[in-house]
Amino acid sequence: MDILTQKKMLGKHELKNPVTGVAINLRMFARCDGMVADSHRKMYEEYGNSGMGMVVTDAMNVNPECQSFRTTLGCWSDDQIPGLSELAGLIKKNGTKAIVQIAHRGAHCFGGKKLSEAPLVRLLDVQQDFIDAAVRIQKAGFDGVEVHCVHVFLLSQILSPITNDITWKYNGSVEKRAQYVVEIIKGIREKCGDDFIVGCRLGCNEPDIQTSIKLAQMFEEAGVEYISVSTGVDERVEQGNMDDTFDLGIEVPEGWPYTKRVLGAWQIKQNVNIPVIAADGVKNAEIARDILEKGYADFVGIGRARMADPNWYNKIVKGEEPVYCFHCPVCFWLFDETRCPARRKLAKMAEESK
Ligand SMILES: Cc1cc2nc3c(=O)[nH]c(=O)nc-3n(C[C@H](O)[C@H](O)[C@H](O)COP(=O)(O)O)c2cc1C
Ligand code: SF4
Repeated sequence: MDILTQKKMLGKHELKNPVTGVAINLRMFARCDGMVADSHRKMYEEYGNSGMGMVVTDAMNVNPECQSFRTTLGCWSDDQIPGLSELAGLIKKNGTKAIVQIAHRGAHCFGGKKLSEAPLVRLLDVQQDFIDAAVRIQKAGFDGVEVHCVHVFLLSQILSPITNDITWKYNGSVEKRAQYVVEIIKGIREKCGDDFIVGCRLGCNEPDIQTSIKLAQMFEEAGVEYISVSTGVDERVEQGNMDDTFDLGIEVPEGWPYTKRVLGAWQIKQNVNIPVIAADGVKNAEIARDILEKGYADFVGIGRARMADPNWYNKIVKGEEPVYCFHCPVCFWLFDETRCPARRKLAKMAEESK
C-alpha cells in the first residue's frame, strides 16, 4: 500500500493519511476586525476537499491590539466563534483534521524586532490570550491548535537569545526562555483537556539545532502532541524568503538531498517521542514518499504545492500530474494570490477543457 495513503496516528488521533497542510497565512483575505470573509470560505472549502490527513490554518491573531498582520483572521473574541465554526466544518467535512495556528507578532506590533522594543506589560498578558484563543477554537469545533513559535513572531522572539534581549523571568537560560511557551501549552491542556490536539511549530535554529532539540523536548514534556519544524529568528524569513541558502546552525551531511529545515525535522525527530512534521520543498510524490519511508519525519507538511494546486494530494496519489508550484522568489499568496502563476495555469487549463 502506498505510504501516502496509509492511516497514521498523531497522539491518540487517527489521521487518514500522513500528509498535512502546513500553515499559509491568507492575510489579504481578512477584514481588519479579524472576521471571516467569503474568500476564506472558498479557501477552507478547498482545504476540506484537499484529501490530506490534517490541515493547519493560517496563523490567526490571539489579540486585537497586536495583530500579526492587520488583516489576518482573529480568535480573540467570542463574536468570532460562529465564523470560525463555519470554517472548521468546511475543513472537517471529509475527515481531514482541522487545526488552527495561533499567533502573535510580538515586538513587530510595536515597530521593533527585539523584546526590548515592546512594552513588557503587554507581553505578560499575551500568555492568557493564547490560552483563551485555544478555548474559542475548541468551541468553534476545530480538532486542535498549533502554537506558532516560528518566523520571528512573539514566541520565537522569546525563545531566541538573539531577540529575547531583556532582563525578566523568561530569560537567562534556554529553560527560562522556554518556560513562557511551556506555561501556554500547559494552560491550553488544562482548559481544553486531553482530547484536543495541541501542536507546536518550532524553528530548527533557535539559535541552533542543539538548542531547538532541547526546546522540542521541553514542549513534549509540557504536553504537545507534535512538533512541526520550520525556521526561527532570521531576518530573511521575515521578508518572506523561504529559500534554503542561509545557515540555520545545522551541519549538512554530504549528499543530504533535502532542505535544512527537513534535516532539522529529522534531527529533532531522533530526540523526541512525539510525531514530527517536516515541511519545506516537499513538492512531489517522490519526495513525500522518500521522507516518510526513510523515517526522516512522521508526517510531511505541504505549503506552496497545495496553494499552487488545491488538488495536489488527490492528484499525486492517483499518479496524475498536479500543476506544480513555480517557486516564485516571493510567493504571491503573501500579497496578491491572483498573480500565482500555478493558479493562472490551472484556470487556463479549466477554460481550455470546456
Ligand atoms: C504565502 C505564505 C504564507 C505562510 N504563512 C505561514 C503561517 O501563517 N504560519 C507558518 O507557520 N508558516 C507560514 N508559511 C511557511 C509555510 O508553512 C512553509 O513552512 C513554507 O512555505 C515551506 O514549505 P513549502 O515548500 O511546502 O511551501 C507561509 C509560507 C508562505 C509561502
Ligand atoms: S507558484 Fe508562486 S505564487 Fe503560486 S504557490 Fe508557488 S510560489 Fe506561490
